[in-house]
This record gives sequence, structure tokens and C-alpha cells, in this order.
Amino acid sequence: MSKPKVLLTRRIPSSALATLEAACDVDRNDGSQLSPEQLKTRLGDKAGVVCLLTDMFTADVMDAAPRLKVIANVAVGYNNIDVPAATARGIVVTNTPEVLTEATADLAWALIMDITRRVSEGDRLIRRGGWKGWALDFMLGNELSGKTLGIIGYGRIGQAVAARAVPFGLRVIHSDVQAVPGSGAIPVDRLLATSDIVSIHCPLTPETRHMINQAALARMKRSAYLINTSRGPVVDEAALAWALKNGIISGAALDVYEEEPNVHPDLLTLENVVLTPHLGSATTETRTAMADLAVRNAIAVLTGQSALTPVS
Ligand code: DGY
Repeated sequence: MSKPKVLLTRRIPSSALATLEAACDVDRNDGSQLSPEQLKTRLGDKAGVVCLLTDMFTADVMDAAPRLKVIANVAVGYNNIDVPAATARGIVVTNTPEVLTEATADLAWALIMDITRRVSEGDRLIRRGGWKGWALDFMLGNELSGKTLGIIGYGRIGQAVAARAVPFGLRVIHSDVQAVPGSGAIPVDRLLATSDIVSIHCPLTPETRHMINQAALARMKRSAYLINTSRGPVVDEAALAWALKNGIISGAALDVYEEEPNVHPDLLTLENVVLTPHLGSATTETRTAMADLAVRNAIAVLTGQSALTPVS
């Protein structure tokens, strides 16, 4: 029996690739990102696709793939896929939850530590020859102990970030965009007004797009820090640059951006912001586990079984 045809939109770790190639006839794109037109052409005869969060699956792209049964995203976020359009076409969409929780929570903490203790700012200062020696009042940051960490989006990753807060002596409060009664969640406005550090872990949806805008930033304490490891468009970058320039908040640390890989030019000029290039899940262990889970999802659907982690 012939193997199902699958498009692999970018390179994945060799162990996951071997699993995919053992079960499927794989059309590999080892080069740069495919354009929507290239995606459409390559998907014409495919039953499955293993893709990344940078590949946009609109209804238009899906219409060029009449045999498509599964879109296996190598990411927990799936805002790159029009899920209702996929469902309407009988296409199963899968993501990679859980395997990246710890890595992403670690990165959120790396950013919290960095911005509150001015680690990257100090590194930049030394590299440009700006350090003139130790002084009692030099480059002071802020302690974590006794402060309040506000988590927006209390799913797996938000809870893993909260668990790491205990040994640092932080009090944790949380909000959910759709508050669940009895969950202990407080309204986002109250969280913004009372937190010393706000860390965002909600998905990107029409409700959360630009949730952190000028008005939201103005509600935060002037001494507060904003951390975003979720999706860039949750934060209005122009508003954030305004808030950082005008002392509306003390600092920010971002791993995700509105128009990746571009960053709002004003943010690049500011010292009170740490910028990392979407590294949340970027450990060898986690990226391997993500690719492996996506491949197993694709194979499951293509062999008539239930997907392991479907979103639709
Ligand atoms: C995800 O899986 O959604 C992450 O953003 C990838 O790093």
C-alpha cells in the first residue's frame, strides 16, 4: 500500500524526521519559509502537513489542498491556522501542548530576572566600555521577595511560571481572559493595578489582541515590569514603547513581537527593555519533543486513529 503524502514545511530534528519518513511519503522543504503560493502548490496532492507557527493556513490555502486530512502544528499556539475553516473542511488541526511548558516557563523567569536586575543592560554597558567601577548606587535593580507577580492566562505555562515564584518569595495572583468562577482569578484591570511584575501567558485571540494597550499600561504601577512570552500582538508595541519612554512602567521583557522578526524601532533604542528572539520553547529537548509529537499526531490521523493532541 502506498504511504500517505505529507508536506514538511521546514527542517525538524532527525529522530522525528525518521519517524515521519518511515510512515509517510514526505515532501521536505529544507530551505526558507514557503510563501502562501508555494504552500498551495506543494499541498495540492498532500494528505497531511507538519508545519511551524510561521506557516499561515488560511481558508484560501486549505482550498488548494483538497486531500488534506491533518495540519500538525509544531507549536502549542495555533493562531497561524484558521481552525473553523479547517473544521469546516474536515481537516484535523493538532498542536504540541505540555512538552514545552517547562522550557517556556524557564524563559519567562530568565526574562523576569534579567529585567528586574538589569542583566542585559549591564552586559551592554560593559561591552561598550561604559563601566567605570563599583559604586554603592550603581545600576540598582529591584528585589523579587515580597512583591506580587500577576499572571494573565493561567493555563499550563502560567501555572508553571507561578510554581517557580514560590522560592523567590513572590505572592502570585492571576487573571483569565474568560474568568472561570471559583478559579481564584481576578479581573485583568485589578491584576494590572496591583502587580509588580505582569507576565502574559494567554493565547492570541480576537479578545486578547492588543489587550495590553495604552489604557492597560496606564493602569500598571510606575515601578512595574511587563513580561511577554505568549504572542506578540497581545501587546501594542507602540503603546509599550510610549510607556517605557515616559516612565509609565519601569521596564519590559519581550520574547514575542507583533510582526516577527521585526521589532518596533522605538523599542530597539530603549535600555529598559530586554528583547529575545522568540526563544520560549527553544531548548534541544523541547524542540525535539515538539517535532516528535507533531509527527505522531500527523501519523495517527493518516492511519485512521485519533489525534493525540487535537485542537479541533
Ligand atoms: C509555541 O509553541 O506556541 C511557541 O511559541 C513556540 O516557541
